[in-house]
Formats: sequence, C-alpha cells, structure tokens
Amino acid sequence: MKRYFIIIILSVAASLNAQKFEGLALTPPMGWNSWNNFACDVDENMIKEIADAMATTGMKDAGYQYVVIDDCWHGERDSLGFIQPHPDRFPSGMKALADYIHSKGLKFGIYSDAGWKTCGGRPGSRGYEYQDAMKYAEWGVDYLKYDWCNTEGMNAEGAYLTMRDAIFKAGRPIVFSLCEWGNNNPWEWAKDIGHLWRTTGDITNCFDCVVDHGTWKSWGIMQILDMQDGLREFAGPDHWNDPDMMEVGNGMSVNEDRAHFSMWCMLAAPLIAGNDLRNMTKETIEILTNSEAISINQDRLGIQGFKYSARDSLEIWFKPLEYGHWAACFLNRAEQSRVVEFDWEENKINDEFSKRSLNTQSEIYNLYNVWARKSFGNTSAKFKSEVPAHDVVLMRLTPVE
Ligand code: GLA
Repeated sequence: MKRYFIIIILSVAASLNAQKFEGLALTPPMGWNSWNNFACDVDENMIKEIADAMATTGMKDAGYQYVVIDDCWHGERDSLGFIQPHPDRFPSGMKALADYIHSKGLKFGIYSDAGWKTCGGRPGSRGYEYQDAMKYAEWGVDYLKYDWCNTEGMNAEGAYLTMRDAIFKAGRPIVFSLCEWGNNNPWEWAKDIGHLWRTTGDITNCFDCVVDHGTWKSWGIMQILDMQDGLREFAGPDHWNDPDMMEVGNGMSVNEDRAHFSMWCMLAAPLIAGNDLRNMTKETIEILTNSEAISINQDRLGIQGFKYSARDSLEIWFKPLEYGHWAACFLNRAEQSRVVEFDWEENKINDEFSKRSLNTQSEIYNLYNVWARKSFGNTSAKFKSEVPAHDVVLMRLTPVE
C-alpha cells in the first residue's frame, strides 16, 4: 500500500514538473520532410544527400533547417524495448546521421506515432513513450512529428501530453509536431503541449481536388486552405496551425506552386518542403527561397492571415506584419486568368483579432510585388493587375514615412 502511495506521489510530481520546451518555434518552423515525395522509401544516403542539397541550393540560407525523416525508418525494438532504425536502410545508425546533419548546420527530425503502430505499420510509441524520447535525445533529435494511426480508444490530449512529458524528461529540447489531423480540435488544447498541430488530413499534389482512397481522403491545396477557416485565433508564436507539408515542386504548375507557397506564407504555416531537394527546377528553387515571401511567413508578430473577401473565385487575403506593415494576397482560384481591381480607399480593413486596421484613408502605403520583386505604386491609386489562373499577386504594404 505504502509503496503504491509513493509511486503515485512520484509520478504526480514528475508530471507537475514536466512542460513543453518553450521558445523553440517563435516563428513557423522551416524544413523538409520525406513523406510527400518518398513515402516509405527512406534511407541514410538519401537523407544525407537531402541535407547536402539543403545546404547548397540556398534553402538553408533562406531559413530552412529541419531535415525530418517521416514514417518507415524503424526497425525492431531490441530485447529491452528500445527502438532501433532499420538495419539495411540506416546501417550507420541514427546518431551518425544526426551528427552528419548537424555538421551541415542543420537540425534533425524524426517521426513516430501515438498508437501501437505507425500509419506505415512500423512500431508505434504507445507504452514506450519515455524509452523512445530517451533514444531520440541520445541520437540528437531536434524535431518529432507524432502521428495518430492505430490509436482506437485513446484520448488525444492525454496521449500527446504523455509524449510531451517524456520529451521534457529526456532533457533535449525537441520541437513537438502533433499530427492528429485536426480530429480532436488540437487548437483548443495543444498550445502548451506542442509547437504545431496538423489541422487537416493529408495534402496531395493537386491544386483543387479531393483524392478518395476508400477509407480516407487526401486534399488539394484549395481544399486544405478552406479548412483553415475559423482557426487563426488559435495560432501564434510557438504554437502554430499546420495545414500540412508542402507540395511545391511535386508536379503542380509553377503558377499553382507559387499560389500554394504564398498562401502558406499568408497562413503563417510551418514551411516544410516535401519535394526532392536534390532535383529542383530553377522555378521551384525560386519559389521555395523567395526571401520576401518568407519574411511574410516568418514575421515575428506571428499573426495568421485572414480572408477579407471571396467573390467569383477571387479571394483577397490580408496579414498584419511588424512595424505597421501588411501583406496582401490576391488569389485567383479560377481556371482562367482575370484582371483584378481594388480600390484601397473604398475598403477599410479592420482586423478585430489583432486589433490592427489598414487605414488607407488616412495613410498611404507603398506596394511591393513579392514575385515580380519590384515596387508598384502606392495605395493612393486603385490597384489593377492581371492574375493568371491558379496564381496570386502577393504584396507587402509599407506605410510611407
Ligand atoms: C499520416 C500523416 C502523414 C504521414 C503518414 C506516414 O498519413 O498524416 O503526414 O506522416 O501518416 O505514414
């Protein structure tokens, strides 16, 4: 009896002390993840080549830092229950791989699942949370994506809390990325548990479509975008809505990739590339490394943008930025190009959530076109521009001194 009492006291004390590692994602995390392009076909050589490419293509200089191996890196648990990487795919072990990635000035991420098996049928962390977190810390892991397959009957908040506490106890600061697809409204409870949480099911490399896999669906860029409605007030520095990893460079048109990237910037979404960094076209590199677009995403206020209007497949989005700046994005969802007109003086843009207003009646803002990389007038004149099909005009507004 006395022994049980002591154990209860100790475990309550342990969980009271545990917390999320604060301050690891004050701006949306930027990196790369293997899943969208490689699925289960992961091995140490490919991951090292991706790290090399991240360092040499300008991705690292643009701010990308996490190299995350998604599902299927796992081998068996050893006789004591510790997880091991797949011996043929990762023969040098995870510590050596982490060291390699760190030697490039980058950070290392890994994947597990709250259930007994991952979505790809590999060993999950259920019942092994503390042992797995210990291993990750020992290997030098900096980022953990934690999935939600095979969790029947489990409580999501409790499961993610357990892993958060395990990470904290293991002692190595690790960005904790919740991947339960928004099923249990993580935005309502995950702020103190993780640094980002998926808001939807899986993305697919299609601008505007739904792919039905029978028991589940994957979603196009526009479908995912629509599912973000109503969530912006839950996001901010160190706790982000995650509309899933990007499909830029995975087969959509350049216009569509540009629109996708721009919207992820407007949403203050984590920028996790999902393409093969070893083989990128010039256009893909230009999109993923556009420093002006990235600065909108990485703005330190961390305010998620909002849809101001939507008419005839044309959406106008705004995002308040530091120093009284704003980002504006004109998104053409139609399959035809169109001419957009916007009278700044007639539109008063008031953001109740951030308590900011874009006061174009009393102030003039200079306009900078992020993709054309040039200034184009100011808000004292009507804005008029052609927006190609499935494309955007993305701009930064700066108050005239
Ligand atoms: C789920 C996740 C994906 C990916 C796969 C791996 O579907 O949502 O992002 O991690 O599992 O199996």
